[in-house]
Amino acid sequence: MRSLLKFITCGSVDDGKSTLIGHMLYDAKLIFADQEKALELDSKIGSREGKIDYSLLLDGLMAEREQGITIDVAYRYFTTTKRSFIVADTPGHEEYTRNMAVGASFADVAVILTDATQGMLVQTKRHIRICSLMGIRHFVFAVNKMDLVHYDKRVYDQISRDIKKFVSEFDVATMQIIPVSATEGDNITQKSSKTPWYQKDTLLGYLENIEVVNLSACDKFVMAVQRVSRPDQSFRGFQGQINEGEIAVGDEIVVLPSHEHAKVQGIHIMDQEAEMAQAGQPVTIRLDKEIDISRGCVICKDADLEVAHMFTAKLLWMDDKSLMAGRNYWIKLGSRVLPASVMEIKYKIDVNSGEHIPAEQLYKNELAVCDIILSEKCAVDVFDKTKDLGSFIFINRVTHMTSACGTVMHTLRRSNNLVWQETDITKKIRAEQKSQTTRTIWFTGLSGSGKSTLANAVEKRLVAMGKHTMLLDGDNIRMGLNRNLGFTEADRVENIRRIAEVAKLMNDAGLIVLTAFISPYKRDRENAKEIIGDDFFEVYVSTPLEECEKRDVKGLYKKARKGEIPNFTGISSPYEEPDAPDLVVNTQEISVEDAVTLIVERMQ
Ligand code: ADX
Repeated sequence: MRSLLKFITCGSVDDGKSTLIGHMLYDAKLIFADQEKALELDSKIGSREGKIDYSLLLDGLMAEREQGITIDVAYRYFTTTKRSFIVADTPGHEEYTRNMAVGASFADVAVILTDATQGMLVQTKRHIRICSLMGIRHFVFAVNKMDLVHYDKRVYDQISRDIKKFVSEFDVATMQIIPVSATEGDNITQKSSKTPWYQKDTLLGYLENIEVVNLSACDKFVMAVQRVSRPDQSFRGFQGQINEGEIAVGDEIVVLPSHEHAKVQGIHIMDQEAEMAQAGQPVTIRLDKEIDISRGCVICKDADLEVAHMFTAKLLWMDDKSLMAGRNYWIKLGSRVLPASVMEIKYKIDVNSGEHIPAEQLYKNELAVCDIILSEKCAVDVFDKTKDLGSFIFINRVTHMTSACGTVMHTLRRSNNLVWQETDITKKIRAEQKSQTTRTIWFTGLSGSGKSTLANAVEKRLVAMGKHTMLLDGDNIRMGLNRNLGFTEADRVENIRRIAEVAKLMNDAGLIVLTAFISPYKRDRENAKEIIGDDFFEVYVSTPLEECEKRDVKGLYKKARKGEIPNFTGISSPYEEPDAPDLVVNTQEISVEDAVTLIVERMQ
């Protein structure tokens, strides 16, 4: 059987990726005859004055033909007498790092193009970093456009030195640097007479012969459960695609995160019974006893996986909006999707020099090492050991776009050593003692909208009703607990996170909590809701900006208009209105007393 090699091509715009692969397919006679004709015709009007333009072969996308850049991952399949190949042709344009990361996550080998006339570019270094981040250990460098430098060995040698120096910091299993001309066909499928100083394999020859050892192929077995199948009372099977290793009927397995043990009673591949199954196969597994398994649990054997909710990871940020520590995202890890956030950006990695740079935010296309926290413990592993449980994506909870991809470096021991302590006196008992139901009434709105006034009046009413309360007010908290925070977006994220944690603690103490913070970002209020849970009751104080500015109780709007207060909400910093608050109060239309009555009625 011919083995399959999955590789990715990366290069900067105009490095000649499409031409290179196109030429390889053409020379190796790997295209159909009619395609060949079409290519000749097309080239008559193409960019090479009647000579065959090989890049047209790969230009599946109209947009690329129009703009001259590749804009998506194009997968090609081809076969030679020695091997089958799948190639992911990925864009060189800076905008499309995302597609590159997607392509790299699937490949064993990266073919990285460098332009002999330009040498290594920052973009080339970025590609190497991303490929390495996504687990690629085999690199082929095609030093292209050798014809334009008259096949000068010195140019090749200089670029080779640069590449070797840069690559030395990465974990690379094999590496080859090949001088080529994608347009002329030198060293693509046939050795070029113009580079007598290069004696090694051609590009295709190298790809045909390279041994890609799959490090994960060993005794262990790992499968993230995607679905529990229960067609009737007598059958309960756990379905998923085997991530690593093999499993056979009779094997003893462990389920994570519960660590319960069982034996495999039956295996189905599609609708056929089987004795064993292996990595990549979609299977249904039956066990010899009832244990609690749901989607996202991991079934494993001889795999040294950890159950953790904090880890350190490398992250490639791909969202237009920058990353701020404390913001909540969905993480997809194995087959689980759960809330997660970056606790701390430890440092950014300069793509060019590898230098570690301290950072508060992470912008599009930047790489960083971060500490990540999940909303609950789940099975994770170091990326180098179990690819599927050590790689993840972050999903923006509002736009549902993929915001980042990342790989786990190590779990944080402090996460393993923390155990939630149940107390005999519970939140329920504490609240009952005070004859009340706990709540956090979360007032949000512009500065001067009336949040503090309302919160104050509601608290007085509640106390008059014999309730036990606590009021947390923006300015006051910022003088104590949060005195180290300012008004940048990152600081406001942290301000709201801390307030939500404090409100939750006070709810646990059995209190009714009132908070009066601008809390201008939707996502941070959602995060607060997640922390506080069912007690969260959102009141949007919708007084319009003009009115707040007219009132200007603290004189801050005047200062902000004069440019004396940076990042002032409503003036030089945004306020995002809630989509579905529990209550809206417009202080222009309703008296404080009526608003209090309404809030107290509704919050019960
Ligand atoms: S929040 O945005 O992080 O929720 P918070 O409610 O704690 O803000 O603090 C808002 C109060 O801080 C305002 O009522 C105002 O008195 C004061 N303040 C000082 N600078 C600013 C600013 N740049 N933007 C908004 N409020 C500010």
